Amino acid sequence: MKLESIGPDIWVANGTEIKFLGLLLGTRTTIVRLADGSVWIHSPIAFDTELAREIERIGPIRYLVAPNVYHHFFLREWQGRYPDAQLVGPHGLPFKRPDLSFSLVLDELEQDPWSDEIDRVVFTGSRAFDEHVFFHRASRTAILTDLIVNLRLENQSRIGRLVARIEGVAYPGGRTPLLYRLGMRDKVSGARAVNAMLEWGAAQAIISHGEWFRENASQELRKRFDWLPLVL
Ligand SMILES: [Fe+2]
Repeated sequence: MKLESIGPDIWVANGTEIKFLGLLLGTRTTIVRLADGSVWIHSPIAFDTELAREIERIGPIRYLVAPNVYHHFFLREWQGRYPDAQLVGPHGLPFKRPDLSFSLVLDELEQDPWSDEIDRVVFTGSRAFDEHVFFHRASRTAILTDLIVNLRLENQSRIGRLVARIEGVAYPGGRTPLLYRLGMRDKVSGARAVNAMLEWGAAQAIISHGEWFRENASQELRKRFDWLPLVL
């Protein structure tokens, strides 16, 4: 089984590792079954036939969601295999990837088509990139991408271990990467987004790279975003 069930109508799957700044980053996707039976996929990982079959058993793939302008590498193959699926991404990604055809731009939506089941806030204020963060209400799961990274050091090279420590992304204390924190020009707007996340009262929080938070998610988020002026 590639999919791990982590609550009602929600699954995660781990994908191939990618190299970034000397770090070995695992990848992770989150899959949600919507009330109409269709499937919403957050940050698709590398295409894999077995994984695709397991997802097909859940329901027809309706949405392929890119949460920020960096998580777009595997969209093309998924869309090629599932041409009826709608590609959804942040402002800026359609310009970066003119070869892909996006149906929805998150920043331009007045209301998300899945808003009865999944909430969303956009984390802004960094020169690096914005990130759309989701919350699946039925399972009380927050779904983050790159805002927190939490890497086990034993899987890293010597350089990787050093980079992970400097970036502040070493398990179990992984938090927002230093490079991203340094790029913050508006901490108040970042804090506003995190406060909105904390109001969700998440039980668990998924991240794309490293160990995710299977319990006490709100507390974990508060701790890992403590570099922001949070009010909650
Ligand atoms: Fe990433």
